[in-house]
Amino acid sequence: MAFTLTLTEDERRTLSDRLEQGTVTDSLRWAWENFGQRAAIGTSFQGAGLVMLHHAREAGIPLPVFTLDTGLLFPETLDLKRRLEDFFGITIEAVTPEKTVEEQSAEESPELWNTRPDLCCYLRKVAPLQNRLSTLDVWITGVRRQQAETRENVSVLELYQFDPLRDEYIYKLNPMAAWSRDKVQEFLKRHDIPQNALLSQGYRSIGCWPCTRPVAEGENERAGRWTGFDKKECGIHTFLPMAVTR
Ligand code: ADX
Ligand code: SF4
Repeated sequence: MAFTLTLTEDERRTLSDRLEQGTVTDSLRWAWENFGQRAAIGTSFQGAGLVMLHHAREAGIPLPVFTLDTGLLFPETLDLKRRLEDFFGITIEAVTPEKTVEEQSAEESPELWNTRPDLCCYLRKVAPLQNRLSTLDVWITGVRRQQAETRENVSVLELYQFDPLRDEYIYKLNPMAAWSRDKVQEFLKRHDIPQNALLSQGYRSIGCWPCTRPVAEGENERAGRWTGFDKKECGIHTFLPMAVTR
C-alpha cells in the first residue's frame, strides 16, 4: 500500500532541487535510507537504468530492481538481463502480466499490438506495474528529459497520486533526469557495462519486439517505437495523476 503524504509541495521541490544538484548515488541513498525495500529501481536495461545499477553497486545500496517482462521482449534483452545479473551480482525481478501472450490472444485478439496497442500496453505493462507499485513508496526510473518532448519537464523527485480515493501517494524518483544520451553512453563504455546486442544493429530505444524497429541516423531515439501508430508512450509514465499538494 502506498504511503500517506508527509512532504509539503514546497518541501518536495526543495528536496528535488537538492537531489538534482547531487549525484545519482545521493538520490539512490536518499531512497534507500528513507524507504528501504519500499523503494525500487524499474529498468528496461536501457542506458540510464544501467548507470543507476552501477552507482547502487559501487555505493553498496541494495535497492530491489525489477523489470516489466511483457512476454514479448527480444531474446537479446532477456540475454542481457542474465548478463547484468552476473555482472552486478544481483537478482532482477521479472514483473509479469496476469495472462500469457497466448491467453491474451485467445481472449482479446491475436496480435493485439497490431490493432489496439494501448490496450496491449495496459494489460502487459501498466497493470503489472500498478500491482508492483502498490507495494512501494518510491518508484525509481531512468527517465531523462532529453528522451522526448513529453519528458522535457520531469523533476528528479515527483509526487503522484496512487489511489485518490484512499488519499495515497507515491514518489517517482528520476535520478537520471538531466543526463544526455551521450553522457550515458560514455559512462557505460568507461565502466564496461554490458549492453543490448541489438544496439549494434541500429536499435536505440528497445521495447517489445512487435513494436520496436531500428532508427536511422538523425532520428529521435524513440522514433523506432510503435511505428505506424500515433503513440509515443506505453502508458507507464502517464497513467498516474501528478499530485498537487499544499
Ligand atoms: S517507455 O515509456 O518507452 O517504456 P523508456 O524505455 O523510455 O520507457 O524508459 C524510461 C524508464 O521507464 C526506464 O528507465 C525505466 O525506469 C522505466 N521502464 C520502461 N520500460 C520498463 C520495463 N519494461 N520495466 C521496468 N521499467 C521500465
Ligand atoms: Fe504490446 Fe507493443 Fe505495448 Fe509491448 S509495446 S505491450 S507488444 S503494444
